[in-house]
Amino acid sequence: MSGVNEIRSTFLDFFARSGHTVLPSSGLVPNNDPTLMFTNAGMVQFKNVFTGVEKRGYDRATTAQKCVRAGGKHNDLDNVGYTARHHTFFEMLGNFSFGDYFKERAIELAWTLITKEFGLSPEKLLVTVYADDDDAALLWKKIAGFPDHKIIRIGTSDNFWQMGDTGPCGPCSEIFIDQGPELRGGPPGSPDEDGDRFLEFWNLVFMQYEQLEPGSRNPLPRPSIDTGMGLERMAAILQGVKSNYETDLFRALIEAVAHAVSRAPEPSTMASYRVIADHLRASAFLVADGVLPGNEGRGYVLRRIMRRAMRHAEILGAREPTMYRLVPALVREMGQAYPELMRAEALIGETLKLEETRFRRTLERGLSILDSETRDLQAGQNLSGETAFTLYDTYGFPLDLTQDALKARGIGVDTDAFQAAMQRQKQAAREAWKGSGDAATEAVWFGLRDRAGATDFLGYETETAEGVVTALLFEGAETEQLTAGQSGFAVLNQTPFYAESGGQVGDTGTIVAAGLKARVTDTQKKLGDLFVHSVTVEEGALRLEQPVELKVDHARRRAIRANHSATHLLHEALRQVLGDHVAQKGSLVSSERLRFDISHPKPIEAEEMARVEDIANAVLLQNQPVVTKLMAVDDAIASGARALFGEKYGEEVRVVSMGLPSGDGGTKAFSVELCGGTHAGRTGDIGAITVVSETAVGAGVRRIEALTADAARRFRAEESRTLASLAGILKAPASEAPDRLTSLMEERRRLERELAEARKKLAMGGGGAADADAPKDVAGIRLMARVVEGVEMRDLKSLADEGKTRLGSGIVAIVGVAPDGKAGLVVGVTEDLVGRYDAVGLVRAGAEALGGKGGGGRRDMAQAGGPNGVGAQAALDAIEGALRGAA
Ligand code: ALA
Repeated sequence: MSGVNEIRSTFLDFFARSGHTVLPSSGLVPNNDPTLMFTNAGMVQFKNVFTGVEKRGYDRATTAQKCVRAGGKHNDLDNVGYTARHHTFFEMLGNFSFGDYFKERAIELAWTLITKEFGLSPEKLLVTVYADDDDAALLWKKIAGFPDHKIIRIGTSDNFWQMGDTGPCGPCSEIFIDQGPELRGGPPGSPDEDGDRFLEFWNLVFMQYEQLEPGSRNPLPRPSIDTGMGLERMAAILQGVKSNYETDLFRALIEAVAHAVSRAPEPSTMASYRVIADHLRASAFLVADGVLPGNEGRGYVLRRIMRRAMRHAEILGAREPTMYRLVPALVREMGQAYPELMRAEALIGETLKLEETRFRRTLERGLSILDSETRDLQAGQNLSGETAFTLYDTYGFPLDLTQDALKARGIGVDTDAFQAAMQRQKQAAREAWKGSGDAATEAVWFGLRDRAGATDFLGYETETAEGVVTALLFEGAETEQLTAGQSGFAVLNQTPFYAESGGQVGDTGTIVAAGLKARVTDTQKKLGDLFVHSVTVEEGALRLEQPVELKVDHARRRAIRANHSATHLLHEALRQVLGDHVAQKGSLVSSERLRFDISHPKPIEAEEMARVEDIANAVLLQNQPVVTKLMAVDDAIASGARALFGEKYGEEVRVVSMGLPSGDGGTKAFSVELCGGTHAGRTGDIGAITVVSETAVGAGVRRIEALTADAARRFRAEESRTLASLAGILKAPASEAPDRLTSLMEERRRLERELAEARKKLAMGGGGAADADAPKDVAGIRLMARVVEGVEMRDLKSLADEGKTRLGSGIVAIVGVAPDGKAGLVVGVTEDLVGRYDAVGLVRAGAEALGGKGGGGRRDMAQAGGPNGVGAQAALDAIEGALRGAA
């Protein structure tokens, strides 16, 4: 019996031996496709290779690919936990041919692997082919010796694979295993094909087309192969178990869940263990690839997955955050194959814990509302969409969590009404998914890159260099020259201009030659290594094949370098002060300032930030050289260099170190990071580092902005001037200004309170004014009716209370008129009279005269308001009238 880790390596080794390049899984966030939410198949990273827009140095490849299917075209979320096979996260093993071998070799390889390497018995195997694919049928007959009834022809979309609405696609052939007659179910294509007996485990796609839009398909330049084997399924088959969740890997995770909730699985609770184990994988891998829980797009899918798991932990009795405690077990099981899990372990734990803590606050309340709202519902009935929406909006229950919670009882949700309620709240509702906006697939750059080749970047060593123009673009099309006044893009064989990446902005500067002067306003990178300069020609013409001189704006670049190095120092200082969970989540390094986001669950205290600044600035005083080394990516990470989650690195990486080792006896420099940016020569060149702000930019993410060198000094000087002028106004030394201001503010609050009290007293006639409006007797009831001015609307109620106390028994009606002419009305009824008089009715009687509508409250105290203060007396008269009428 083979473990999951062995099966994965057997697959990859087998294809490596047959001439395939073994490549790492690409990230779960596709970086070459704005149409896809998550990587959902092994072929995603090769999409442009299949369509021929991109060339690679190999035409056969094999991978174990991380996949998430929870959103978009392939969405399995709702079924997870309740079936033996569904997952949100799974691993797909695949072999790929890019115009190399086609159907015959693909079938041969597949057959050899499963029957020889994996030792599956041929008698138990059968396949499907697309209805009119005679070639595939014949090949299966020839290679596997299958009789006709084991080659089932299917003409539906089941046997035609598509990545999404667009992209490469083709007919496919699926391989099934017959798990024996003791299981229910019929062969593929039969009416009861959904049973468990016949299990599909490998899909061979014969890539032949590219879907451009619905109804429009182009043939691919060269027919190709894409296959996908579910690793979890293969493990279940080879381990002789009925469900993916009974394989070694899932058993270990489920055991960890049982340990965390101190409760062993039973048949009635098994689904919850499965949900948690599955969702733990999806959540951890998504966080490791840079996704954080949020309210839109990918972040929202992650949040839904996390919260669904948390509800199931609640079912198992967990009353404290639990998911984060499972992370070490996952890293133990999968960290070898996916080192990113080990690197991100602290971040994954923190993110889960934060989300769990947040959600726990409302989970119980929401569940009890759900319980009482559905108590009287029977199977087949629906929960109202409004309630589902309230749960969503107020308690953070994603719709699928509510559906999942009701599923076992056969109760549904009125999703139309839910959507309608959502629409009504459109303003607040999250913006729809708009794609990653990644323009890397623009065809023009692929063509250019093929012809012009990668740009040689010289900017680490020099800020001026010569280069030859290899391509020019004007208004989106290639051109021979750009003339004075025209703006376009220029590509050269080499350049000292840094192209925006890793958060560092692109360089600006000039391009000159005899008779030519052009301004470079920005530099961007396309397809990883094509440097594209945005240029405006000021004099002469910039021509193809022309040798020119390139000059980076030196002052600007120097400021950028200082800011980039300062980012590294702050990153490390923050980690030292706040803890290991701090990971950089994106940054912006420009010439004016630096800004970066870190994962941290709460605001950074002023005192913590002061320590961060002290630590970072101490490294500046060391004035050591900033050292850059080129290393193999694995060596770099093994040596302890910090990599950024979700970043893609090439095989060779630059490792930037600065600062003397921290005082713990180690030899590692203060900061060591993988980084392709440009940096200060020595730490002293940074001059000074000053943090100017620290704010929240989403759940668990803080944004820090800082300045260096002269900008930092100017900022502090400006602050000193402000403080000095403040001290002047306060007539106190600067050091005493805060205390002085605090006592002034306190005094002001006290005076405000006193003023409000005095006004109230005055309004109620307590100021010694003649008691012209003493309580009247109306139909045997004492009525105190007043119009008051200068009283805050929010104080009217306490006035009415006071009136009630004074009356002992009776009714108080007070109209407050504000300076802008609007009016508020309050009616109070003393306790002994609430059986006979209703303050709500009386207040409504009065509101009309104020031009208001309605009013509300309780029988003993109600309020209303309206725009017409001039109707104040009329309102009181109307109340008096109503009182007489009621008597
Ligand atoms: N891309 C194919 C699939 O996902 C192999 O099934």
